[in-house]
Amino acid sequence: MLRGCLILVVPVALCVGLQPQHARADETSPTAAGVEFFEKKIRPLLVMRCHECHSDQGKGVKGGLHLDSRAAILSGGDSGPALVPEKPDESLLVEAINYPQDGVQMPPRGKLPQNEIDLLTEWVRRGAPFPAGEKKSDASKRRGIDLEAGRKHWSFQPLREQPLPAVKNATWGERRMDAFVLEKLESSGLGPSPAADRRTLLRRLSFDMTGLPPTVAEIEAFEGDTASDAYARQVERFLASPHYGEKWDASGSTSCATVTSPSNGRSKRGRTPGSIATGSCRH
Ligand code: HEC
Repeated sequence: MLRGCLILVVPVALCVGLQPQHARADETSPTAAGVEFFEKKIRPLLVMRCHECHSDQGKGVKGGLHLDSRAAILSGGDSGPALVPEKPDESLLVEAINYPQDGVQMPPRGKLPQNEIDLLTEWVRRGAPFPAGEKKSDASKRRGIDLEAGRKHWSFQPLREQPLPAVKNATWGERRMDAFVLEKLESSGLGPSPAADRRTLLRRLSFDMTGLPPTVAEIEAFEGDTASDAYARQVERFLASPHYGEKWDASGSTSCATVTSPSNGRSKRGRTPGSIATGSCRH
């Protein structure tokens, strides 16, 4: 169930509703909310701050303590269990990150920022949820950084001119890039949308950049401007305008959402400037 929820990205609240609200500390299946908390807040922290010295990926396991699986953390290192689920006050890990004068201070190079100490403490208080079934070996494999593999990632490849893909509609497109877009469209049985007229184009741009429609004078000026760089100049004009971004709401979308769906109860957050720019928001 839990796995299904996560894979389908069903809203977490839904999953939680079907799970026992308070998983017992020693239970192996944590709640979806617990796992989410771990994945978002705790795993990155452990990887960044502790794994260097407390996982097989680092430079040796210090103090005999692995911090890359729940079982390993519970069984602990040289001094015994590193944590007691739900009991931060009894947990060596929490003690160590609070830098006791007369005890182990972790990480050795300097105390963690307070918010990270609070997060780890909160995690222990919640029973130290960890994704079920994650074995130490799987965990370290997944979190290890393979530099050689990383270097092969496309974004690190030198720039190279790519041959243009074959397309059926040879007349469409203005730049080389367009051929790649068209090829994807055609392979999905789609074609390009008709070009927007100048008035529509300026309205989209204006909403996108300022959150407001263009004035009649602006539309007329743009309709009369037939130079090939007319659109680019409009973009520059908006970018330089003190009204750029002025009417965007806090979610980063423009007032477009409010204009198009004032009462259908849809979240404004659903629309972003990006979706408007691609013309999915009709004015
Ligand atoms: C630069 C290396 C390094 C980093 C980073 C580091 N540790 Fe340690 N840790 C050690 C060493 C070395 C010991 C053994 C020290 C000792 O016993 O005095 C140790 C011991 C511990 C122990 C005690 C284990 C036992 O059973 O005695 C705990 C708990 C611990 N570390 C937690 C953490 C946590 C949590 C982090 C991340 C926030 C962390 N450490 C980051 C090097 C490190």
